[in-house]
Amino acid sequence: MSETNDHKDFDVEKAEKFGSQILNALNNGALCLMLSIGHRTGLLDVLSTLPPSTSEGIAASAHLNERYVREWLGAMVTAGVVEADPETGQFRLPEEHAASLTRAAAAENIAVFSQYIGLLGGVEDEILECFRKGGGVPYEKFSRFHEVMAEDSGQSVLSSLESHILPLIPGIREQLEKGIKVLDVGCGSGRILNKLGTLFPNSRFTGLDLSQEAIETGKAEAAAQNLKNVTFQCADLSDFEHVAEVEAYDLITTFDAVHDQAKPMSVLKGIHRALKSDGTYLMQDIKASSQIHNNCSHPIGTFLYTVSCMHCMTVSLAQGGEGLGAMWGEEKTREYLTKAGFRTIQTNELAHDIQNNWYVVKK
Ligand SMILES: C[S@@+](CC[C@H](N)C(=O)[O-])C[C@H]1O[C@@H](n2cnc3c(N)ncnc32)[C@H](O)[C@@H]1O
Repeated sequence: MSETNDHKDFDVEKAEKFGSQILNALNNGALCLMLSIGHRTGLLDVLSTLPPSTSEGIAASAHLNERYVREWLGAMVTAGVVEADPETGQFRLPEEHAASLTRAAAAENIAVFSQYIGLLGGVEDEILECFRKGGGVPYEKFSRFHEVMAEDSGQSVLSSLESHILPLIPGIREQLEKGIKVLDVGCGSGRILNKLGTLFPNSRFTGLDLSQEAIETGKAEAAAQNLKNVTFQCADLSDFEHVAEVEAYDLITTFDAVHDQAKPMSVLKGIHRALKSDGTYLMQDIKASSQIHNNCSHPIGTFLYTVSCMHCMTVSLAQGGEGLGAMWGEEKTREYLTKAGFRTIQTNELAHDIQNNWYVVKK
């Protein structure tokens, strides 16, 4: 095709629309960094409790430096998060906005997830190197991963554990009350397990994870709550299919913990081996299709592919692993579960959860 024809086909309206989309992306990327700061400093929480206030008043209430707070407010106002009154020089966070941005909003608090943007930005240089040479970026390079992950799952899983998640498995509440053995694979900092341990004192809970740091956090929280029925163990689960205890557990769980393993198939085969014949495996993993084109209307598709590329996939590759990635999708998840030996796989979706599928799996 000649150059002239190329230009003839150029859709000016399409180009302008796309240009605006990218400008919005620039603003929204920056907004996420500022929301993360607003969450971590407590500024968003403080603002939600204050009447319209000046930057001095807000900074004083949040015990922060006024100059930084004023610049942060600039970003918040231009993004439409905070409202400014030019007459009085006062700022306010409308309650309708606070409903998605504060700790009081509990499970609805999206500011928690904005932390991932800065966290991933922290390893950009290392990821760039991997684009050139392959390989992966190990967990140690992510400064706050386990902390943010614990906050993430602490918010998104814990809030619906009793109301939505446990009811997915008929009769499990009664079994847990009576006393069963439960294993959480890739338990991270163990918030979910410690919560289960508190709720069901007659059951015994074990958490396994690669990260010493995360395991120590889980142990410390269990000790602080005087939990005697929860134990944590640091373990690389890459050879789990060979070392897992045989038919030892009534319930095995993975919360967002299979796709970033070095050897996900070995982990799944290990879970199959460790599960009693009438036991249940509950698997939370990303709700997506294994085919990119099917994910175009995914509400957080871009975010999840980015988290995958700059965290889930790369930490697995750094272990010499498979690098499945967070967006491995339901088709592949079912394929892996079947290959690992499971016969019944029920996919559940929770109305409030746009990110995950909840698979109830049996031998
Ligand atoms: C996305 S995090 C989920 C943590 C936790 N289940 C939660 O929901 O908060 C995945 C976990 O898998 C663990 N992991 C990754 N590779 C592993 C391996 N080879 N052996 C054991 N655990 C591993 C990580 O340390 C991390 O805690």
